[in-house]
Amino acid sequence: MKGVFCTPLVFKYMLLLTIESSCDETAAAVVKDGRIILSNIIASQVSIHAEYGGVVPEIASRKHLEAITFIIEEALQKASVTLAEIEGIAVTHGPGLAGALLVGVSTAKAIAYARNLPLIGVHHIEGHLFASFLERPVSFPFIALVVSGGHTHLYKVGGFGEYEILGQTLDDAAGEAFDKVAKLMGLPYPGGAEIDRLAPLGDPRSIKLPRPLLRDGSFNFSFSGLKTSVLTYLQKNPVAGNDSMLHNLCASFQEAVSEVLVTKTAAALRKTGIKRLVVAGGVACNSGLRREMNRMALKEGVELNIPSPLLCADNAAMIAVPGNYYLEKGLKEGLELDARASWPLDTVSATLKRLG
Ligand code: KG4
Ligand code: ZN
Repeated sequence: MKGVFCTPLVFKYMLLLTIESSCDETAAAVVKDGRIILSNIIASQVSIHAEYGGVVPEIASRKHLEAITFIIEEALQKASVTLAEIEGIAVTHGPGLAGALLVGVSTAKAIAYARNLPLIGVHHIEGHLFASFLERPVSFPFIALVVSGGHTHLYKVGGFGEYEILGQTLDDAAGEAFDKVAKLMGLPYPGGAEIDRLAPLGDPRSIKLPRPLLRDGSFNFSFSGLKTSVLTYLQKNPVAGNDSMLHNLCASFQEAVSEVLVTKTAAALRKTGIKRLVVAGGVACNSGLRREMNRMALKEGVELNIPSPLLCADNAAMIAVPGNYYLEKGLKEGLELDARASWPLDTVSATLKRLG
């Protein structure tokens, strides 16, 4: 797919208010030039959804609605700017939970209309892809592995709006697998961080788990079989009350996921000959994955960019990088901007073309 914008990074000085509400984090940020974070406020609903073992969409929308104006006020206050100084609004308008997205989108539209500000809708994964630019710009093209609760995708990124899918999960996303396996082990939701916390206490080679699709020649992933293997193991070896077994299972599972993600990413880098890598999304917080990616990048002579954990997980500052770029190009949405629950990233350039 050919994208429409792939010129080098030249940001105009713009002060953006950005909003993200695609899942269970209500987030707002103030970012200058698409680079300098003046504030990045995140209100997590995790403790509320933990009670149900997963995100309850109806509750998520309601909690976003309760929090959003306070979070925006806090973002402005922390940045020491007033709404009158804001020069544009960028908002995540998909993909995600429709009701949750709608809260962010409606708020962004209301502010843009009331203040006569340009408004741009950004793809959530596009935000993840460029989060590391807030710490250090990356030259195009680069390979990106996006690993989150809903995505496990390998992309070749040629520029803003130029995203080619090299591979993706055929079933569960990596984060989803972490969370489901954690639940099987009796760990609290969301389990990814919990497995990460316990894994260093165990032996990653103690329990033999499969590495799905490791050498199938594609860049696709599959995690549901791995999850079933953990379930089968647990049926024969209950870990309740046996901490060392629990730690070994966490370590072995994390190592299996990590090995598949790293091996496939390395293969994509080799096949394309590209020497720059971005790893993004909530699962990129995982310490085992970060360590193994670092090891691989050193071995392969690849420039590795993994944002700091706060910028890996859902946040609003990441939306400012593409948002600033598109607004600076003169693209803007009308007030008909709507939430898009489902929206493949490789169709983003079509949206940009329409706006241009
Ligand atoms: O990007 P993100 O914050 O939200 C989505 O867009 O999905 O990713 C959330 C996912 C959850 O599945 C969570 O368990 C996982 O990222 N996660 C982790 C870690 N921290 C968050 N997975 C493994 N290790 C972690 N340290
Ligand atoms: Zn995300």
